[in-house]
Amino acid sequence: FGNTMDLPRPEMFDFHGVHMTHYFTDNWEKVQNFKARPNDIVVATYPKSGTTWVSYILDLLHFRQTDAERENTVPLDERVPFLEFFMPSLYTPGTEMADMLSTLLASSKLTFLFSLCPSPSGSRAAGYSNILRHSNKIFSFSAEIVYVARNAKDNVVSYFHFDCTEKIQPEPGDWKSFLQRFKDGKMVFGSWYDHVCGWWEKKQMYSNIHYMFFEDLVEDTGREIRGLCSFLGLSPSEDEREKIRGAVQFDVMKANPLTNLEDDTTLDFSISQFMRKGKVGDWKNHFTVAQNEQFDEHYKQMMKNATLQFRTEI
Ligand code: A3P
Repeated sequence: FGNTMDLPRPEMFDFHGVHMTHYFTDNWEKVQNFKARPNDIVVATYPKSGTTWVSYILDLLHFRQTDAERENTVPLDERVPFLEFFMPSLYTPGTEMADMLSTLLASSKLTFLFSLCPSPSGSRAAGYSNILRHSNKIFSFSAEIVYVARNAKDNVVSYFHFDCTEKIQPEPGDWKSFLQRFKDGKMVFGSWYDHVCGWWEKKQMYSNIHYMFFEDLVEDTGREIRGLCSFLGLSPSEDEREKIRGAVQFDVMKANPLTNLEDDTTLDFSISQFMRKGKVGDWKNHFTVAQNEQFDEHYKQMMKNATLQFRTEI
């Protein structure tokens, strides 16, 4: 499929109160009817917060010992299908791949996944309650959900570079307007604030949600792998865990075409690698002093009552 790069960039539209492009809604009927099984694991994230990293860790934890081939031959985005992504010409729809796998690992960026559970009225999540009627069959909440969140400043920087690189994302515009759009929540998959806060609220109520932070992963990957194991009831040997920790380091994943997603022809690698920097604090190279002050002010308004704390440096 050689002409992917020539595809026009998609427009965003309002989809049940969340900005989306058709790539994530064209298969909606199937997404709606998809039902996870009790031992399935779904990696839930806002875009650019560590989906690939955590998906790879989970894939290695589950399959490394039983299926060594998988790690060396199958691109990561096929091992852990992205459920709502639909681009038949290039990518087998996530819902169909998911049906074929025996133990499912999958990823989703749907903001409103969590509205499957009743939410206290007046909470951020309540804003999405209208989606409930449409999506209450997506996930039986017997599946394990691993949620990964990343601080807003690094998240928006990463998202900006990604949208410049990823030709099937909407036109990114310049950095200044992108930052404004992020603050306004007019991004594919909606508002970062709603996403991270909504899942945080749900985590307080449901024991099958494991809430992780990108910054913690950078600080101590081994500790976070142990945390995942204890959440999922896995007990790999220390040696095995150590091997996985080594395999998921940024430089190792960047050098690996299957995790750097080098088979993905919609990414323009002349602009950026998929595995770009993998740092905490790269926002300092992008925000002006004024942008930072305005961002902090806006952030305080948006996160007013949240017990949710992010680190913008480690
Ligand atoms: P940067 O653009 O800041 O480099 P997602 O997988 O959700 O799209 O997130 C992508 C971000 O996670 C990118 O951030 C990418 O470099 C970073 N990332 C992926 N694997 C990583 C790893 N092993 N170590 C550190 N960062 C990683």
